Amino acid sequence: MTNETKTAELHVDGKTITMPMMEDNAGFRAVDIRTLWRDARVYTYDPGFGCTVSCQSAISHVDGEKGQLLYRGYPVEVLTEHCTFVEVAYLLIHGVLPNQAQMEKFSDLFNSHSMIHEDMRTFFRRYPERAHPMAVLSAMVVSLSSFYPEVDKTDEDIDMAATRLLSKLRTIAAFSYKKSIGEPISQPSHKLSYCANFLNMMFSSPVVDYQIDPIIVRVMNQLLVLHADHGQNCSTSTVRMVGSSGANLYASVCAGICALWGPLHGGANQEVVEMLERIHREGCSVDKVIEQAKDKTNPRRLMGFGHRIYKTYDPRAAIAKKICHEVLARLGKQDPLLDLALGLEAKALADPYFVERKLYPNVDFYTGIIYRAMGFPTDMFTVLFALGRLPGWIAQWQELKRDPHQRIGRPMQLYTGPMQPAFVPIDQRT
Ligand code: CMC
Repeated sequence: MTNETKTAELHVDGKTITMPMMEDNAGFRAVDIRTLWRDARVYTYDPGFGCTVSCQSAISHVDGEKGQLLYRGYPVEVLTEHCTFVEVAYLLIHGVLPNQAQMEKFSDLFNSHSMIHEDMRTFFRRYPERAHPMAVLSAMVVSLSSFYPEVDKTDEDIDMAATRLLSKLRTIAAFSYKKSIGEPISQPSHKLSYCANFLNMMFSSPVVDYQIDPIIVRVMNQLLVLHADHGQNCSTSTVRMVGSSGANLYASVCAGICALWGPLHGGANQEVVEMLERIHREGCSVDKVIEQAKDKTNPRRLMGFGHRIYKTYDPRAAIAKKICHEVLARLGKQDPLLDLALGLEAKALADPYFVERKLYPNVDFYTGIIYRAMGFPTDMFTVLFALGRLPGWIAQWQELKRDPHQRIGRPMQLYTGPMQPAFVPIDQRT
């Protein structure tokens, strides 16, 4: 980060306010408005924070014009090709790729933390059968803080806290699925890698062994790596906002899971497949769906399309599209939803509405079709997004705690309510 010698000026009430400018390592610039209220008695108005920088971060970088995503400087394409998810988690949390010894130590911690407290298992039994796994996941994560109160100690080793949460979230995710289908849970195994363990806990049962396919395990790793971090998106900003009040890691991550659930954010992967299923079921034409998405009187958008930052093809979507073809070929499956998705993409990318607004497929457009082929039910898709995003949330929370500029998150508002109306006692109100 360089503090530029350049400044920006704002003219307010005949006064000129001079503000310093900052430039980050990728060349993006910001006006430092921290003293604006003090100097000019004005705020800045930016609903959705499209022009607001909330922190300095060294974890990931998104360039929406170039279609570039970097984790600690490495392109996501390189990491997806060459690293496991656990390796990328280490990179995000520690800032460097692990050597062999560091990787072994980190992986050992995963094994020792993979079980969940026996008492927590009774929670699963009490959830209604149809509980959405995201509701179960968020509640279970915040409950971890009562079972593992050492998270409140400021000196707790970050590897300990991180691997405990990463390992247990995987177990909770698989348990919540088993609960939803009424099957007994499968315990984690110390003999399996992170992703193989997860797939085994999801799909093995007392009567059917899960056949571990190294190619599908690799795909699981790749999909989690694709989601591992993404700048100050809605859920990550939520984790930071909650953390800024001093709340512990589990409480902050629980809030992030809830933010991720929304259909405009991580919940879009479920929405995309439900949209494609509906189109397929109703035999709707691709043209009609595109027309509906463009119609401002119709609330239906083209799910899996558009992004706040990417004004070109989302690099994650390009990787997911490639994996989608590979997985279907590997499993010998054909999915009519893939043909529909390809048709929708081609039509949208040629349509002036999408071209003018620079709306391209985002990460959620193809991932659901892959999960479906792998056997995941639709309502588990956003849980998989959460599992992937977890190392990013942990790294961002940790960075926040170490940031000397960090203050409690507290945006301002422009008040639109009444100003001191006459008070009428209750017995005289009409
Ligand atoms: N279908 C139709 N129109 C769209 C779409 C879409 N998917 N996305 C944006 N637009 C239009 C929008 O109506 C607006 O048009 P106008 O300028 O005429 O008012 C224009 O494009 C700009 O959209 P916006 O809503 O101002 O953009 P935003 O940056 O506030 O929202 C978004 C970004 C991702 C919420 C939005 O594109 C969207 O709702 N997409 C569908 C949901 C989705 O796929 N979400 C997953 C995002 S990627 C995963 C993640 O990181 O969360």
